[in-house]
Amino acid sequence: MAAIGQLAAGVAHELNEPLNTILGFAQLAQKTPDLPLQTKSDLEKIADASLHARNIIRELLIFARQGKPGRTPVNLNQIIMNELKLFETMCAKSGVELKRVVDSELPEILADKSQLRQVISNLIVNALQAMPDGGTLTLQTSFDASSVKFVVEDTGIGMSDEVKENIFLPFYTTKDVDQGTGLGLSVVHGIIASHKGEIFVKSEKDKGTHFTVTFPRQQETVSKEYGI
Ligand SMILES: Nc1ncnc2c1ncn2[C@@H]1O[C@H](COP(=O)(O)OP(=O)(O)OP(=O)(O)O)[C@@H](O)[C@H]1O
Ligand SMILES: [Mg+2]
Repeated sequence: MAAIGQLAAGVAHELNEPLNTILGFAQLAQKTPDLPLQTKSDLEKIADASLHARNIIRELLIFARQGKPGRTPVNLNQIIMNELKLFETMCAKSGVELKRVVDSELPEILADKSQLRQVISNLIVNALQAMPDGGTLTLQTSFDASSVKFVVEDTGIGMSDEVKENIFLPFYTTKDVDQGTGLGLSVVHGIIASHKGEIFVKSEKDKGTHFTVTFPRQQETVSKEYGI
C-alpha cells in the first residue's frame, strides 16, 4: 500500500509541471483578442479541466506527504489575489460577482505557501460549486493583536446542520461522483491544523456559507517550533 502511495505521489509530482504549462498557455490564449466563440469556449474547457486536475494532484501530494511543509513569510493578500485570478473566467461564466476586501496592512505569517494556495483554492471551488446560478463570492482579510484572518463567503445553497457536522471528514461529499471526492475540506482542515490555525463555518440553507480561517500572529511561537 505504501509503495502504491509513493508511486501515485511520484506520478502526481511529475504531472504537476506539464499541467501548469497547459493551464498557463490556455489562460494566455484566452486573452487573444477577437477569438471565435467556439475557440473561446474550448479554451475555457481546457482551463477548467486543468484546474480540476491540478487540484486533485495537489491533494494527492498532500495526502502522500510528499510536499515537505515549508515555513516562509507569506503574504495572504498576495496568495488570495493570485488564486482569484485563476478563477475569474469561471466566476464570470457562472454569473458570480467577486468581492475582495483585503487589509493592505496585513502582517505576514510563517507558512507553507503552496499549502495555503491549496486551502484558498479548495474553499473557492466549494463556494463556486455552491452558486451554480450565480451570486457573490467575497474574500476578506484582516488581523488583530493575536491573529491573521481570512474569510471566504458565498451566497450559495448553504448547508443543513447534518451536512455541517460532517464536512471535515475525509470522503464526505454531497456531490455527484464527477463533482467531488470529499477530500477538499479534510485537506484544508489538516493544513490549517498543521499551521496551528483554526477554521470556523457558519452556514444557512439557501442563504450561503461563511468560512473563517485564523492563523496565530506571534511569529516567535512558530519560529521556535519549527527551528527557524
Ligand atoms: N461553500 C459551501 N456551500 C455549501 N456546501 C458546502 C460548501 N463547502 C463545502 N460544502 C459541503 O461540504 C461537503 C464536503 O466538502 P469537500 O470540499 O470536503 O468535498 P467536495 O467538495 O464534495 O469534494 P472535493 O473537494 O474533494 O472535490 C460538500 O460535498 C458540500 O456538501
Ligand atoms: Mg470541495
